[in-house]
Amino acid sequence: MMDLLIKNGTIVTANESYIGDLAVDGGKIAAIGKNLSYSSAKTIDASGMLVLPGAIDAHTHLAMPFGGTVSADSYLAGTRAAACGGVTTVFDYPMQRKGKGILETVEARKEMCDPEACVDYAFHCIVTDLNDGALLDEFQAAADYGITSFKCFLVYKKEGMMVDDATLIKVLLKAKEVGAITNIHAENPDVIDMNIEKFKKEGKTSPWYHYMSRPEFVEAEADKRAVHWAKSVEAPLYIVHMADKEGLEAAVLAKRQGHDIYIETCPQYLEFTCDVYNREDGRNFVCSPPMKGVESQKALWEAVKNGTIDTIATDHCPFMSYEKDWGKDDFTKIPNGCAGVENLYPYMLSAANEGIISFNRAVELCSTNPAKIFGCTQKGSLTVGKDADIVIYDPKKAFTISVSNMHSDYDHTIWEGKMLSGYPVQTYVRGTLVYDNGAFVGKAGYGQFVKRSPRTV
Ligand code: URP
Ligand code: ZN
Ligand code: ZN
Repeated sequence: MMDLLIKNGTIVTANESYIGDLAVDGGKIAAIGKNLSYSSAKTIDASGMLVLPGAIDAHTHLAMPFGGTVSADSYLAGTRAAACGGVTTVFDYPMQRKGKGILETVEARKEMCDPEACVDYAFHCIVTDLNDGALLDEFQAAADYGITSFKCFLVYKKEGMMVDDATLIKVLLKAKEVGAITNIHAENPDVIDMNIEKFKKEGKTSPWYHYMSRPEFVEAEADKRAVHWAKSVEAPLYIVHMADKEGLEAAVLAKRQGHDIYIETCPQYLEFTCDVYNREDGRNFVCSPPMKGVESQKALWEAVKNGTIDTIATDHCPFMSYEKDWGKDDFTKIPNGCAGVENLYPYMLSAANEGIISFNRAVELCSTNPAKIFGCTQKGSLTVGKDADIVIYDPKKAFTISVSNMHSDYDHTIWEGKMLSGYPVQTYVRGTLVYDNGAFVGKAGYGQFVKRSPRTV
């Protein structure tokens, strides 16, 4: 007797698509095949539907203290929205601060997250200060705990979050030693600060100058620096939210040369260009790095299509309108970040439905690759024995994104009015239904911490 039988759907993995049945038992995928004839507590006819692995959003900032406030989605709201967008695991970013350890940082966030999480969750740990080197001694314990990725900011200097190049190299090497990977937010802080000072003196304070103070070459320099150090010390590197063509090309070249480098981009960089900063609501699009020009947008899409970008994640970090309004007359006062966790999979699947990429590639980018890169051995694929994290997707369902049909706590979305072709109709996390045809049906506290494995390469 199975818990769930999904019949006659088109099962999609990163490599193939075929019509078949899928049986779930005890939260795991128990069988996949044609004409499975188990008796089952619940049976679904998925004819005409796609059956997909749940997405993994490898980049969120829930309840994050940032920009003079805290990001608008709690762990409850952010993971509820995740469930409703077909995301079955989120990776959040606890931030270690000077004098604090990795495990105490992570455990404090885990305490917040555990009672609230509606989908499974993992943590990358942001490192801001090595505590005179003592922090490095904790990397092994962190990896044993299941934290097999660390993050460094090459920016946010004034905010005390940036690391210098020596710290970066120490983190790269130590992470490698313990079987972990280093994630990097790459932008050049000094050039940004110089530009900001200049624009403010000139009275140039609209959101357009957020982009102008962090244009393509500002990101590219830091992307190249990160790639350079990772290559030089032969350590694995994951560049988060890649948004510029020049940096992308440098990272792709290094990958082609055989270096262990991975590239993430986000739907907002695929959908929008810097033109959004001239819109009346331009401040709502302020995030870092900013959206770039059309050449970068084209290059990112090309890399999504040709396989050189590895993952799509969201950098979900929404703020309320009144908070974005702090920067109405001064772009430097706009909290940086936008919503996206509920839009990731529908957006990429819509691109597949429109023939821009294949459904297999969408699955690879949003589920299989993040699971592989970050050591989620039980996730990322519809394979017997893995967690039954499943999305049922209706390719015929049209959907227009609006803040009113999202499931977060924020009060606006940069995706307002975006029309999608096809939409998820059900999400299962470890075999339990958490989203059903527009409604969240999960439970706060159901989500579990994902203890990740160390890298073996
Ligand atoms: O603007 C952004 N991206 N806010 C969140 C923090 C970060 O840099 O990822
Ligand atoms: Zn970032
Ligand atoms: Zn981020």
